[in-house]
Amino acid sequence: MKIIVAGTGYVGLVHAAVCSEYGHEVYAYDIDKTKISAYSTGDPEEIEQYVNEPGLSNIIKETLNKYLFFTSDLESIIEGTDVIFLCLPTPPNLDGSSNLTYYDAAVQDMAKSLAKRKDKRRVVLVDKSTVPIGTARHLENLLLSQKVDNFGVASNPEFLAEGTAVSQARKPDRVVVGCDRVEDFKILRRVYSQFVNHVRIKYIETTPETAEAIKYVANTMLLTYISFWNGVGARIGEKIENINIEDLRRGVTADDRISTWGSYVSNGAGGSCFGKDIRSLIYQLRRVDVDTKLLESSYEVNEYQKIYLIDRAISEAQFRFSDRTVAVLGLAFKKQTNDMRDASSIKVIETLLGKGVKKLRAYDPLANEEASKVFSVKNNILFEKIEYFDSAKEALEGSDALFISTDWEEFRGLSSTIMETVKPPYMIIDGRRMIPDYDDLAEKGYHYLAVGSPVLSPLPE
Ligand code: UDX
Repeated sequence: MKIIVAGTGYVGLVHAAVCSEYGHEVYAYDIDKTKISAYSTGDPEEIEQYVNEPGLSNIIKETLNKYLFFTSDLESIIEGTDVIFLCLPTPPNLDGSSNLTYYDAAVQDMAKSLAKRKDKRRVVLVDKSTVPIGTARHLENLLLSQKVDNFGVASNPEFLAEGTAVSQARKPDRVVVGCDRVEDFKILRRVYSQFVNHVRIKYIETTPETAEAIKYVANTMLLTYISFWNGVGARIGEKIENINIEDLRRGVTADDRISTWGSYVSNGAGGSCFGKDIRSLIYQLRRVDVDTKLLESSYEVNEYQKIYLIDRAISEAQFRFSDRTVAVLGLAFKKQTNDMRDASSIKVIETLLGKGVKKLRAYDPLANEEASKVFSVKNNILFEKIEYFDSAKEALEGSDALFISTDWEEFRGLSSTIMETVKPPYMIIDGRRMIPDYDDLAEKGYHYLAVGSPVLSPLPE
């Protein structure tokens, strides 16, 4: 199959690379020429400055200029194309709706090239990135208005989680394909021939609208599940005496119907998808008069979760942040990534600055550089109070309190570093329950406050 993947961000680049592994002729197309020339080198460092996924640059190195080609020139590749995957950004508007301006402009350009084709073979345009329900239909109308011949539209959402995108794309749990016509389903079956009759992978063919809805329902369900544990499980552990949250979690998730994923209480879920998708689904459902209370609550619980440990430190441990130095360990939205999009640490840092802290000493194994872009003094002068360090130990030095915001494994061994580096009275706020031997710390006079447990050894009045 001759495939164009339009848009070479995280979704597009991973998809293009994995399709090229299956012997399709894949053209990864982007209007950003700098990106295209970086990818075309095949050099991992060049590629990883845009998309850093384990295994990705290896595939690109293997298939580059054999099955995988990068280009910014759409006209030169359009002839003979069977499938065009649209992996275009649809950022959120302030009201939660998706901004389709960029998407529409890119499709208009594509439609003009498609209308000029000499080869009139059937081409299927496929929405791969998350787009509002009804976008495939909107896409069809855009192409009709440009008089494109012999085309079909489809929705084929991706469900990849960062850090494991390549292995998941190679072996997905499901492939969802939404089309209107049998001939389009057939074309996509050829693209995904390795998955169609797979014993474990569910290959689901449905309407375009259902495929689009599957993505939103899946992501909002996952966030709601996390919010359930944060808003109910963690609170039970914090407010009712003699509850062990780990045992509670293990006991509940022993039931095959209840997932362990999502049951790890935290200071909120971040990332580029969950918040954006739930707000978009709320917007879409309100427009058709659906009561969205449940979704609104999930979203609100998650947002509050990002700051509530700071509230607890003040109300339950009588800690005063004003004029104190706080170490923030972990900045990325989850471990194994440098991605700062919607990371809980952003809310944590903004709230701490709002409480008048003197200094913030930050450390993340991968995300210091990304974080420094988010916390640029151009955005807010208070960000000049943040200093970045190359280790947890250095960040801890001279601090009065510590906030753990990301679940990096290296933080599990933090208690000895804490004892060596800072002396009590000292406030430890653990947003990820990373420190297993907190009893020892509490015994030695450190004040320990974790999500899901009552505060240990509160500061004296
Ligand atoms: C998510 C979905 O998993 C994926 O299917 C979808 O396509 C895109 O969004 P991703 O954003 O990469 O993927 O992150 P994920 O691993 O799902 O974690 C999201 C957030 O939830 C992180 O901040 C993570 O730390 C947090 N989380 C996850 C918890 O707080 N507790 C958990 O038990 C699991």
